Amino acid sequence: MPDPSLRPATIAVHSGRPDHVPDAPLNHPITMAATYVAGGDLEYGRYGNPTWAAFEEALGALEGGRCLSFATGLSAVATILDLVAQGQTVVAPRHAYNGTVMQLADLEARGRLTARLVDITNTKEVIAACADASLVWLESPTNPALEVADIPAIREAAQAAGAYVVVDNTFATPLLQQPLSMGVDLVVHSATKYLSGHADVLLGAVVTRDDDLFGVLKNRRDLIGAVPGTLEAWLALRGLRTLHLRVERSQQNAKELVRRLEEHPAISEVRYPGFGGIVSIVLGEGAMAADLLTHKTKLWVHATSLGGVESSFERRRRWKTEPATIPDGLVRLSVGIEDIEDLWADLRSALDDLH
Ligand SMILES: Cc1ncc(COP(=O)(O)O)c(C=O)c1O
Repeated sequence: MPDPSLRPATIAVHSGRPDHVPDAPLNHPITMAATYVAGGDLEYGRYGNPTWAAFEEALGALEGGRCLSFATGLSAVATILDLVAQGQTVVAPRHAYNGTVMQLADLEARGRLTARLVDITNTKEVIAACADASLVWLESPTNPALEVADIPAIREAAQAAGAYVVVDNTFATPLLQQPLSMGVDLVVHSATKYLSGHADVLLGAVVTRDDDLFGVLKNRRDLIGAVPGTLEAWLALRGLRTLHLRVERSQQNAKELVRRLEEHPAISEVRYPGFGGIVSIVLGEGAMAADLLTHKTKLWVHATSLGGVESSFERRRRWKTEPATIPDGLVRLSVGIEDIEDLWADLRSALDDLH
């Protein structure tokens, strides 16, 4: 277990490793096991695995809490929403990740809970909505609108009203934002994105400092069985080793791209919260121009998802479930770690062709 006073880059490299004893491997092996010899702590493959535990130790150390990994980000989301008691209210951003909003809509349609969707940039409105809520869901920045919530203010009001507060920290990563240190109850991740970082893994995670919540969630995970694949957990931990370098480089590239994109005549709006590697642009000529752009580049790959080493982009409204308040011509860019000049040359030439 690394010293908690270590800095994040050192924690990313050193946590979740075997003890330094002669002949120990430097990395935990991939333990493929459906069951274990009886009488220990693990017993069965759905209850635990040493490779998941290594990933959980590392992400827990980075977020400052205890971590549970899940099969996907959405199964982590579902496991948290499953804790909401029958008939209670959940406050959530109207522009939260579409899969989260769709889960809330599905639960509401089946009479399980009331979903109250808010504009998370309007702190007053969010705080007023928290009054009778049992769970306040925050995602900051949001996907793909890139809105930022006032986490400390909302957290304080929500907890005073008796609600639990969750932050989806997928976009910021624990390197740019540590919600548990702001007092929120739970952090959720799509580890599919930056944490793994190579577009080859689906994985989710929840982190908390509350031992009771940890126990309840672990029990739900055991019962539901939304557990990670062993290879996936191992790959995610391998990805985590370079998280600080990847986040730093993609953020540096994103900031420079924002500066250049703001001057391009084909673009009517550039959205960037000031940190991270995701940028949303709105094409002045709308959906057709946006679709054209995503088919004209050579390096930028047209694909959903984000947070990989490679730069990718997509027009979000190509998904029928994306809300109408997201502009039709909005293209979300996931800025990778390539050379900025190559990224810009490719994007600029496609944008110039549109104009
Ligand atoms: C912010 C955010 N949260 C959760 C998810 C869901 O994660 P997964 O695709 O790993 O299920 C995503 C996926 O795009 C996301 O962007």
